[in-house]
Amino acid sequence: MASAYKIQEHTFDMVVVGAGGAGLRATFGLAQKGLKTACITKVFPTRSHTVAAQGGVAAALANMGEDDWRYHFFDTVKGSDWLGDQDAIEYMCKEAIPAIIELEHYGVPFSRTDDGKIYQRPFGGMTTRFGEGPPAQRTCAAADRTGHAILHTLYQQSLAHDAQFFIEYFALDLIMDEHGACRGVLALDMAEGTLHLFKAQGTVLATGGYGRAYFSATSAHTCTGDGGGMALRAGLGMQDMEFVQFHPTGIYGAGCLITEGVRGEGGILRNSNGERFMERYAPSVKDLAPRDMVSRSMTIEIREGRGVGEHKDHILLDLTHLGPEVIHEKLPGIAESARIFAGVDVEKQPIPVIPTVHYNMGGIPTNYHGEVVQLRDGNPDAVVPGLYAIGEAACVSVHGANRLGSNSLLDLVVFGRAVANRAAETVKRDGKQAKLASDACDKALSRLDKLRNANGGTPTSVIRDKMQRTMQADAAVFRTGETLAEGVAKMRDIHASFADVKVTDRSLIWNSDLIETFELSNLLDQALVTIVSAENRKESRGAHAREDFPDRDDANWQKHTLCSVDEAGNTKIDYRPVHMYTLSGDVDVIPPKKRVY
Ligand code: FUM
Repeated sequence: MASAYKIQEHTFDMVVVGAGGAGLRATFGLAQKGLKTACITKVFPTRSHTVAAQGGVAAALANMGEDDWRYHFFDTVKGSDWLGDQDAIEYMCKEAIPAIIELEHYGVPFSRTDDGKIYQRPFGGMTTRFGEGPPAQRTCAAADRTGHAILHTLYQQSLAHDAQFFIEYFALDLIMDEHGACRGVLALDMAEGTLHLFKAQGTVLATGGYGRAYFSATSAHTCTGDGGGMALRAGLGMQDMEFVQFHPTGIYGAGCLITEGVRGEGGILRNSNGERFMERYAPSVKDLAPRDMVSRSMTIEIREGRGVGEHKDHILLDLTHLGPEVIHEKLPGIAESARIFAGVDVEKQPIPVIPTVHYNMGGIPTNYHGEVVQLRDGNPDAVVPGLYAIGEAACVSVHGANRLGSNSLLDLVVFGRAVANRAAETVKRDGKQAKLASDACDKALSRLDKLRNANGGTPTSVIRDKMQRTMQADAAVFRTGETLAEGVAKMRDIHASFADVKVTDRSLIWNSDLIETFELSNLLDQALVTIVSAENRKESRGAHAREDFPDRDDANWQKHTLCSVDEAGNTKIDYRPVHMYTLSGDVDVIPPKKRVY
């Protein structure tokens, strides 16, 4: 059956899957190093989800007050609730400075200070003097459309280099050889319905997160974790998937993002009494506490009856006191979103908001070069040859249990760049590639054929809806052993129900029914791994808040979860140690302590 499908073959040194911030930075970086590079993407590059990032990108430039990359390092370790790898965090915070200057030189239209420097705003959890000083103004912004500005500039740079783009190609599966090395990827040209094998010495997964496993997310509908799905099908473990970030300010009902930059510019969260309740939860930084804390505080306010609206089920974000000038100059995008999606004029009315799924701290485990790592024969850092992951698809791990706002755009550019640097050292230009086995694509083709002809009784949308509602209810801001166990049982059933999926369109040309089914399959595996990992972790840390285990337990749980799933839905859990060492003597390891703000 598989042989009925014709495959066009392409040979590259490197293939990048995904054209968001990380994918584009890697693509032109690799091309710049003289490597023959392909970038395959399911959406046109400038429609990638990076375009939706608003508030900014962190780097200790000190343009608007005291700062130091070591303070950024400290804040990121503390923000991660001591689950982040300190070598990787050092790398990211130190490299942030040249990476942002580089972006400026590439042409990113950052907002400016009066003296022409890049404008920087405060963001949650970003402080000075190792947490003892005032909040840092560290987040470099292009008004509240920073992702848009960066993505367009990176695409322009990509076009200036000799990389080849394969646009509206959907990556189906990784091609792994008998030694466990990745040899490329099989993809479907969605417009033509043709199949393409991209053979490469290195494959970079830059496919973003899987926010759409949940019912309400700030993530685009395209955020279906396609790289993570492929990695799991290749038998690899995903790391720290229990840590799902809820952004405090998604628009109530619509889920669209209202940037943390609003609070950075002075916006205030208020309950039904009009009270600035964050003063009680985080007395020193208040509304600029890290996201996990703000989301929990909002949830407590709602639970205790101080929510607003008919159902008392959300909170208000007040920026009426900021004045038209600040709103027009610094926050024009959210003013528009609030008007369209909440019917609110932000100069006169507060915005109704609620914690909304925003980011996956977990992902495909990598080292700070972007090389995928697994636990093999007792080695927790064993590199999977030929496979890399960057951006939200990856877990480096620089965010640990909770990412600080504006460290995501940073992660994209720093590790997109790191992968290009690493490949330049390790991959041969136009290097010979060993012959692939003649049946290398058979498994991927039979899966394609099976799903294309799936004739069960349950439409894709029905399974997806059940998954999203289960994840929303049972893997929420607060979790208990009971809700998690119930969620695991439900997710196991929903995962199994995929065997009964029904695809109605049998064509290969612009078959959105089939593409959504592939995406659902990717989401289902990751949703299951997420809730199983959450049920397994018996402590509270960062975004994983268990009411039955309210404290962090470093003695037993300061370790990364590694969870895999087989075709039948059986999950397996292993662990990797957290890197409690730095790369250089430039900064000291931050030992764990109580995380208060
Ligand atoms: O709130 C925001 O602008 C989001 C930024 C981020 O997730 O880093």
